[in-house]
Parts: sequence; C-alpha cells; structure tokens
Amino acid sequence: PITPVLLCGGSGTRLWPLSRKSYPKQFAQFLGEESLFQEAAKRVSGEGFAAPLAVTGDGFRFIVAEQLDHCGIRPAGILIEPEGRNTAPAAAAAALHLAETDPGALMLLVPADHAIPDPDAFRDAVMTGAPAAAQGQIVTFGIQPTRAETGYGWLEAGQDTHPGVNALERFIEKPDPATAETLFADDRYLWNAGLFLTRADTLIAAFEAHAPDILKDTRAAMDAAEPDLGFLRIDPALWGQVRSESIDYAVMEQAANVSVVRFAGGWSDLGSWEAVWQESPQDGDGNALAGLSTAIDCENTLLRSESDEIELVGIGLKNVVAVAMRDAVLVADMSDSQSVRRAVDMLKERD
Ligand code: GDD
Ligand code: MG
Repeated sequence: PITPVLLCGGSGTRLWPLSRKSYPKQFAQFLGEESLFQEAAKRVSGEGFAAPLAVTGDGFRFIVAEQLDHCGIRPAGILIEPEGRNTAPAAAAAALHLAETDPGALMLLVPADHAIPDPDAFRDAVMTGAPAAAQGQIVTFGIQPTRAETGYGWLEAGQDTHPGVNALERFIEKPDPATAETLFADDRYLWNAGLFLTRADTLIAAFEAHAPDILKDTRAAMDAAEPDLGFLRIDPALWGQVRSESIDYAVMEQAANVSVVRFAGGWSDLGSWEAVWQESPQDGDGNALAGLSTAIDCENTLLRSESDEIELVGIGLKNVVAVAMRDAVLVADMSDSQSVRRAVDMLKERD
C-alpha cells in the first residue's frame, strides 16, 4: 500500500482574510462542508492506501488531529515542524521517518490545498504510477494547462515507459511570464499537480544527489526528534538550521529519474481568490455568493460573508472579490488577487 504524506504546514497567505496565520486555508471550509485538508485526506484513504503521515506546523497539530478524527481517519503519525522550512525539508523528514521501518515504502506527497472533484479518477492516476515508483521513479502528475500560469511547475512529457506513464524530460518550476507563454503554446507541457509518488529510499537518494545539505540537516533534526503526546516533534534548534526550499527547486528540477502520469480529472490549486471564484458555483452572471451576501447588477464577482453577523451587498460591481470576516474585510480587483500576499506582508510589518 501507499503511505500518503499529508503536507499541511503552508500558510496560504493569498487567501487572506479567510486564511489566517493561526488558521490557514487548508483547514478552513471553502467549497463544501469539509476542509480542503479533510478532503485531501479522504481522497487518499481506503483501498491501496496505508494510514497517512501528516506533516504540519506546531500551531496546527491539534487542528490536524481533530480534523482527521472527524472524518474517521487514524493517522500513522503526525510530524511537527517547529517552524515552516518549505516543502523540501518536510518531504525529506517524512521519507526518513518512513524509511526507518521500510526503506522501500511507497509514499505519496499530498498537498492539502487542492480541489479535485473526481476522487476515483485521481486514485486511478495514482495507482497507474505505482509500478514505475516501485522501480525507483519519482512520479509526478500532469494536468492539461489552460493558461500561461507562472505560479505552477511545468512538466515536459517524453517517451512512455510504463502503461500510462511517460519519462519526464524537463521540470520547470514557476517560470517567468514569457517562458510560461512559450510552454503554454507547446503541447508537450503539462502543469505539475504538486503530488509526488516515490519510494522513501528513492527520494532520500535524490536529496543525497541534489540537495545533500538539506538531507544532512534534516536527518540531524529528525534523529533528535522527541515524541510528544502522540506527535513527533522535530528538534527545533536543529530544524532551524535546515535550508528553507521547495522540493520542486531542491530536487524535481534536477533529478533524472522522474516520470509523469497524465491526470485528466478536474484539478485546481485554490491558490488565489480568483481560483476559488472559478471553482465555486456561480449564478448566470458569473457571481459566486457565499454566506449572507447579495449581488445586484453585478458580474463576475466573488462575494463571501464569513460571518453570520455581516450582510455583504455588492451593487454594480464587475470582476471584484469581496470577503468579509468579523475582524477584516478584503475588497480587490479579481485579476489582482495574487497581490493579497503583499497586503499580508504590509499588515505583518505594522504589527
Ligand atoms: N508541512 C509543510 N511544511 N507543508 C508545507 C510547507 C511547510 O513548510 N510549505 C508548504 N506546505 C504545503 C502547503 O500547505 C501545500 O499543501 C503544499 O505544501 C504545496 O505548497 P505551496 O506553497 O502551495 O506550493 P505551490 O502551490 O507554490 O507550488 C507547488 O504546487 C503547485 C501546484 O499546486 C509546486 O509543486 C508546483 O510545481 C505545483 O505546480
Ligand atoms: Mg499551492
């Protein structure tokens, strides 16, 4: 079986004010009754999957435990990162932890902030990649691109090697706008869905080859990890020394043994309010309304009241996102919704 590694330590600042430092977007309810994290955990449970390993920040450990419990999932473990060092150290820590009991264990790195409407198609794609992963490949999942997105990684698919699996020629993380246009125009390129299927020892070897410092420092911090009330807390002082980097830059852009499985089901990284708007049910004029909100003569808006004490009314708006919380309100041009991160940085400085 495949052990899912639930990466749920990100801060999700582009979805402020719903996503907060103390309660990031993956734990909030976005589109349905359950949080994105719960949906992600459920997607990788059942046949073919072992109990998951969650990797998260200190402040989120109880949220993770409680949300898993709520959907009836008993984790194999919860690794606590004393601070966020991005996905490379988190993935290395998970691989080292799993390799302790089974170096050949298949692991699936699962981001906790995606919307995937067809879980069965998703499972099929994962299982399609399993034989290649068992033979030492790092398997990525490729999505048909619909725009020249600079916020994703891009995959160049090459020859097929196993049924449904292609060799990966090139991995390009977060290209600049001009490069993204070139990649979008070329039908060999797919978006990287952000999921990785690999054996623990394969991933450790890839770190050894391409980011040995991260592996060495993560190993030291893991060796000094302490069990804490059912959690495993990585050593804070040693963890603080680990280079902060994403797995995409640290390993995936370099490694030669990478493959890709095309995933044709729906997929969205709910990385911005614009993406949430695209994924939400809309009225005939393209307005997505949530909570106590009303749109009059509006077009293509996202209006969300997140408080049952706030009526949110939009009149004559076009391409606007408005999100009202009890203690904060965001009003932004839809196309500029990536800039929310800048607002969060400014607010941080003011604190
Ligand atoms: N445990 C832990 N610790 N998780 C983290 C950390 C961390 O320090 N940082 C981020 N994560 C989690 C996030 O919560 C998210 O679920 C996942 O790891 C990916 O991190 P993002 O920060 O959202 O990455 P991204 O969206 O910019 O880019 C990645 O995903 C894209 C698709 O969504 C890359 O893999 C891209 O290549 C890919 O296209
Ligand atoms: Mg993301």
